[in-house]
Amino acid sequence: MIRTRITGTGSAHPEKVLTNFDLEKMVDTSDEWITTRTGIKERRIAVEGEYTSTFATRAAERALAMAGVTAEELDLIIVGTVSPDFPFPSTACLVQSNIKAVNAAAFDVSAACSGFIYGLSIADRFIRTGTAKKALVIGAEVLSRIVDWTDRNTCLLFGDGAGAAIVEAREGENGILSTHIRSDGSYWELLYQPGCGSRNPATQKTLDDKLMFLRMHGNEVFKLAVRAMEDVARQALAANALNTEDIDLFIPHQANRRIIDAIGKRLGVPEEKVFINLERYGNTSAASIPIALDEANRAGRIKEGDVVLFDAFGGGLTWGSALLRW
Ligand code: UT7
Repeated sequence: MIRTRITGTGSAHPEKVLTNFDLEKMVDTSDEWITTRTGIKERRIAVEGEYTSTFATRAAERALAMAGVTAEELDLIIVGTVSPDFPFPSTACLVQSNIKAVNAAAFDVSAACSGFIYGLSIADRFIRTGTAKKALVIGAEVLSRIVDWTDRNTCLLFGDGAGAAIVEAREGENGILSTHIRSDGSYWELLYQPGCGSRNPATQKTLDDKLMFLRMHGNEVFKLAVRAMEDVARQALAANALNTEDIDLFIPHQANRRIIDAIGKRLGVPEEKVFINLERYGNTSAASIPIALDEANRAGRIKEGDVVLFDAFGGGLTWGSALLRW
């Protein structure tokens, strides 16, 4: 049987760190509030000259090096992002140019925080149908450029960075067992960027009205996230006749410690099997799962044959899971 296997992972993030204490000086908030409500202690913020493609490219180079794959061997590059360098061309095309992946087709996927899982799901199908042999899937964001740094409801939640995975066709039982992607567009207004598109293009008025900044109804998103992430995780297990006890490592989207704890509890995954790094990065949207995956992988937390579950949720609304045997 041909399966899609992750053969290399990589991640990259800005050097600049913004702590909760730094934020106390910028908006009316406190380290105590941020820590207890979100679990975040600090986040990485891009500086001048750093873009989404900067981190996407670095993460890609690290993943290629680990996999022992050259850029010319890639058939496909998919970048999940909602903070691309430009509305077009895609950030995937910029990565392709940077790494000289001359034989690949490259495109972005817009699925907010679920972007990496959507990308992985697409790459898996390209590979299992024989359309591609080696693909690069990236989640990359510089959300710091689309958050309102005077809005305490959102600015402290997000961070910048990228994570990447090389996926390849391999004979055998190990690899991606299933992916499930879902969306419900009727909730689009719960989390979105009103400006910079065809509805509210850049004019003095849209800039004055701050329409270029993302907006979120955090509380409603929170409740829907817990339910949807539990549901799609259970779908993944059921599709493979596996139980919660079979999971060796659970890598959920890193948005809020309370969301992660609630899902872990509902599913019955013990804390030591849940990978959490959001205290250092905040919510990096599409980048959060591949950054966590790369950290877990490089720390030796994943062994051959381990069952790993990814679980994402984001604007759209979108959500999805991927179940792998490593
Ligand atoms: O990436 C995928 C999509 N995003 C998410 O999954 C995020 C989901 N949502 C969340 O993580 C949480 O809803 C937040 C962290 C955004 C907010 O936490 P919450 O527990 O839902 O807080 P809240 O919005 O209900 O606000 C509680 C209180 C309010 O005060 P009152 O009305 O109770 O007096 C807020 O005004 O906390 C106040 N508040 C703050 N206080 C200090 C809101 N933001 C802050 C702040 N510092 N930054």
